[in-house]
Amino acid sequence: MAKPIRSDLFDRRLLVNVGKGGVGKTTVSCLLGLLAAQRGKKTLIAEVDGAGRAARLLGAQPGEVGMAQTVRPLLSVMSVEGSAALAEYLQIILPVKRVIQAVLASRIYQYFVAAAPGLKELMTIGKIWYEAERIDDASGERSWDLVILDAPATGHSMQYLSMPRAAHEVFRSGLVGRESQRLVDLLSDPLRTAVNLITTAEEMPVNEAIEMYGRLTEDLQMPLGYLFINRVHRAEFDEDAIAQLGDPARLADPKDRALAAEVIRRAREEAGWTAINASYLQKLRDCVPLPAVELPYVYAEEFGVEQVRDLVAVMDVALGASGRRSGKHARA
Ligand SMILES: Nc1ncnc2c1ncn2[C@@H]1O[C@H](COP(=O)(O)OP(=O)(O)OP(=O)(O)O)[C@@H](O)[C@H]1O
Ligand SMILES: [Mg+2]
Repeated sequence: MAKPIRSDLFDRRLLVNVGKGGVGKTTVSCLLGLLAAQRGKKTLIAEVDGAGRAARLLGAQPGEVGMAQTVRPLLSVMSVEGSAALAEYLQIILPVKRVIQAVLASRIYQYFVAAAPGLKELMTIGKIWYEAERIDDASGERSWDLVILDAPATGHSMQYLSMPRAAHEVFRSGLVGRESQRLVDLLSDPLRTAVNLITTAEEMPVNEAIEMYGRLTEDLQMPLGYLFINRVHRAEFDEDAIAQLGDPARLADPKDRALAAEVIRRAREEAGWTAINASYLQKLRDCVPLPAVELPYVYAEEFGVEQVRDLVAVMDVALGASGRRSGKHARA
């Protein structure tokens, strides 16, 4: 079994956030990005196949695919997409511009990119690797201390994470074999990489998280970080307390009746979610032996910058203040 890591999460070079669709991977990526930047790390959030949501949650408009966009001091976001990453890679390895343009425009190339199994996934991870290792030409320093990979939903992210190994096994010693070996080295190095599982405490996401834990530890043998459990309800009242509110029908004023009925309905819903979450939190404790952080359900008409700010404070306390302001870019 992979050894879980703790407070040194931000000392990794690459954090990979995986989980079922819609559970909060992008939200958690933003929270970790903000905290890493606060701790003095030059951080890049790389949102794979997303719709620019990471930028929006940080109060910015999404930028051009493949281009880093600064959203805070020390924090940037980037949308990463396989075919754009392949085009960029070709530009790095093919020095003649004219040839590249011809290749990219050709129908054979377009067909090849669409049809080659796993190519886009491989190029995406290649782009992430490139950013994690990138040295800034002007300063000679690393462009990023930390890259946070906001992965697509579970099934697809397994394809991303397994592609480098598969490519290495097929091609072994050629160019592709050597390049993919470098990706495998990064992904499987517990000093540089940690995979975080993101889930909500509900049936399907929990089942996927448990399955993912098995595949990550057994098949892919990747180093694991934290289990983040998002949107947790914790009502501090139960059915008995709600019953004590009495029957709204006894109220004379129809407005009071409607209000009381609505309060009771919402309270029941909250108590119901609390009970569901509690049972799946227990299941996670039994089946996923990783350090866990619970993030509360935040009520808001529209989930955005403010809600992210509230959750950052929770995450900060949960992860502990260790390592804070100790990075080389820390501000006083
Ligand atoms: N703690 C929270 N409380 C309430 N709502 C939340 C919370 N975290 C996330 N959400 C809401 O849940 C939805 C999904 O969040 P997010 O986009 O982070 O998930 P995702 O896993 O990245 O989704 P996808 O798989 O589509 O990329 C969003 O609409 C967001 O508004
Ligand atoms: Mg997302």
